[in-house]
Amino acid sequence: MPRTLDPKLRKALADRIRFYNEMGVYDFYRREPSGLASSLSELVETVEEEQQESGDEMSPRKATAVAKAHAVEKSILEVLPSRPELGVSDPVKALRLIREDLGDCTRCALHKQGRKQIVFGVGNPNAELLFVGEGPGADEDEQGEPFVGRSGQLLTNMIKAMGLSREQVYIANIVKCRPPGNRAPEREESETCSPFLMRQIAAIKPKVVVALGATAAKGLLAMSAPMTQLRGRFYDFKPPGVRDPDWEGCKLAITYHPAFLLRDPRQKGEAWKDLQMVMRELGLKASKATT
Ligand code: URA
Repeated sequence: MPRTLDPKLRKALADRIRFYNEMGVYDFYRREPSGLASSLSELVETVEEEQQESGDEMSPRKATAVAKAHAVEKSILEVLPSRPELGVSDPVKALRLIREDLGDCTRCALHKQGRKQIVFGVGNPNAELLFVGEGPGADEDEQGEPFVGRSGQLLTNMIKAMGLSREQVYIANIVKCRPPGNRAPEREESETCSPFLMRQIAAIKPKVVVALGATAAKGLLAMSAPMTQLRGRFYDFKPPGVRDPDWEGCKLAITYHPAFLLRDPRQKGEAWKDLQMVMRELGLKASKATT
């Protein structure tokens, strides 16, 4: 029999889940039916019995309302928050715990759409600079590392132009599994996957995050606008729900995705301006090859 929640109960549940999200808890695991709405009538009986035992009078309507509140509590208690890296200050360890928690992920439809492997992220767990792309392409899916194909070569050159190496920064994507045909990730896929990225960012605590392209910007800032409006400035960024006394959050810049720059190389100058803004923030000097 299908179990459905009445709208008020659903809203209460949604409010509570939002509250947990704000506290930095994103993952919830629902235990199998044992008790949620299916046990509502049992709960009404229990509440009524408790009231009788305690000698209190309670109308059937009120008993039902109390039972519903119990049901919400119970269901919330049954959704176990999982964020094993919380309180772990070593980013290497924190990233390992996040990777373990991700497991052989089947949380969204991408796991059954031809992905070869999960592309978690790569680079320096203590990086000051973190790049975020859209999602793995064929090469990344094959090699298990973000930005290793043609776009990746350009990104590597952009990083070098900033006077850094790939090993000094961290690179990840909004989604960790290849969307088929290199399509943009769908909303549900991004929303399911990006909490893991947010946790990675919170573990690394970079000084600057660079979103590569509008999809990455949207995934990080929940802002949808043309690139011309988004780029050219810093945003204050802290992954939602992170309350870390050791980290104020960081700056976020948005620039063109390398794949776009490969299609329209005339925009490279604009992207370079964005990267120079980032370099000023990080106190970096351009590498000799580009000056
Ligand atoms: N494009 C992306 O957005 N990410 C990759 O990892 C590769 C290409």
